[in-house]
Amino acid sequence: MNPDLSRRAFLGAGLAATTMATIAACTPARPSPAAGPVNRIMPDNPLVAAAEASRPSTGATVTRPLAAGTLTAGVGGHRVATWGYNNSLNGPVIRAKAGDRLNVPLSNRLEQPTTVHWHGLALRNNMDGVQGLTQTAVAAGGSMTYDFRLPHPGTYWYHSHVEMQRERGLYGALIIEDPHEPLAYDQEWVIVLDDWLDGITGTPDEVVKELSRGMGNTGTMGGMNMGSDTASPSTGMTMDHMLMGSYSAFLGGDAGDVSYPFHLFNSRTPDRPETFSSKPGHRIRLRVINAAGDTAYRVGVPGQQVTITHSDGYPVQHQDLDAVVLGMGERADLLLTVKPGQTPVLALPEGKPGRAYGIVSTGTGSAPAAADLPRTLDGTVLDGGNLKADPSVLLAAKAPDIVHELHLTGGMAKYDWGINGRRFDMNNPLAGTFDIRQGNRVQVRFINDTTMWHPMHLHGHTFQLAGSGARKDTVIVRPRQTVTVEFEADNPGQWLTHCHNAYHAQQGMMGVFSYLA
Ligand code: C2O
Ligand code: CU
Repeated sequence: MNPDLSRRAFLGAGLAATTMATIAACTPARPSPAAGPVNRIMPDNPLVAAAEASRPSTGATVTRPLAAGTLTAGVGGHRVATWGYNNSLNGPVIRAKAGDRLNVPLSNRLEQPTTVHWHGLALRNNMDGVQGLTQTAVAAGGSMTYDFRLPHPGTYWYHSHVEMQRERGLYGALIIEDPHEPLAYDQEWVIVLDDWLDGITGTPDEVVKELSRGMGNTGTMGGMNMGSDTASPSTGMTMDHMLMGSYSAFLGGDAGDVSYPFHLFNSRTPDRPETFSSKPGHRIRLRVINAAGDTAYRVGVPGQQVTITHSDGYPVQHQDLDAVVLGMGERADLLLTVKPGQTPVLALPEGKPGRAYGIVSTGTGSAPAAADLPRTLDGTVLDGGNLKADPSVLLAAKAPDIVHELHLTGGMAKYDWGINGRRFDMNNPLAGTFDIRQGNRVQVRFINDTTMWHPMHLHGHTFQLAGSGARKDTVIVRPRQTVTVEFEADNPGQWLTHCHNAYHAQQGMMGVFSYLA
């Protein structure tokens, strides 16, 4: 039952016994979302604290300090000056158990404000790390402690949510273990994938600047991968970063906007791949996280199938496959049975040149040279949108209380990405919200009106794809496609939804699901 309705019914009954007639004459009508002031459940609302108190607890607290700062790191033979947590390109892997309290004292050693967002977690709203919506960003030189209960086991990650900071190294893996793990495996390998240009061909902010000028006349340039000496026909300015003619049949066309000199597998380029030691016959749980800004990865083991067990931290019906395609922000857990010798785990940037990989080694044989690795992974290739939820995490059947249509809009010509034709304004985040109420079953229709795919992400909830599909927090929406998802509005607060392409989000393909009181 709608708690709002029950409260009103209760109040009504009380009033009937007293002075019903006089009250009725002067009680204003309840404001509707469309007219008059609306009462939103903001992050400091007691309902947010109440939801936190009702989460299961182990009683244990895991403390993991993070310091956001500048650093130098080796990337593909270059020394790059960039940013990261705890002086490392890919931040520390944070591990805890579902029900633990995670306590992260953050110190900001950058020269600009920052926040930490805990991607995929149904956590308390005031710890979600969205500047201007759930908190004030932590000032340069300042600090703040993130402290919240971990609601659900799975493969998650954390990253800065301020402008283009994630496109430097401000991210890391967050692994929430299941105290009653049902999956049998011998070892675990956390794999973080990223597309990298910072300090090599420019900075992410320079890329934003270039892209936001728009592509201008596409007709004369289709299919060209432009070099730094090429001028844009509309502006006459040089184009260093824009990738032209990137194509993926799997993603329904244009695969990406940005050209990257490197693709990283746990911060490493293919000239010095990470090696993971194992034994023949061992089962390894690969926890793969796509932390990239503008690149989907096709991940698989050449000549050997793997079994996908989880998408975005939630269990799916197991499926053997040759490769999984991960959009930015998505995760997959894959079981790999180890063969003797040296086995590459490949991540191919979808529709772009280059590759990233690591090696599982049983101590025998010799590692394949990067040049000898296959350039494609074919066969059974799926993404999270093709999977079915494990019955243990299926949402109960229920008619939606409210339906929100989110048209994904804009394009490369003006680089004017938005939702329902609107560019999100970080300084006025509550304009044009998608309003919901606690207890609602919310149906969201992501309708892609553009000619490019978008990995659409929702904060604070794990939606379910229509037709008993996977429970996910980030889903690939192809050009002209509509993806329907539903979620239970059981986590009060203000929650961002956005494309996880860093450049599309920065340009305004964002919105807010807003709980009304
Ligand atoms: Cu990883 Cu707002 O997201
Ligand atoms: Cu997008």
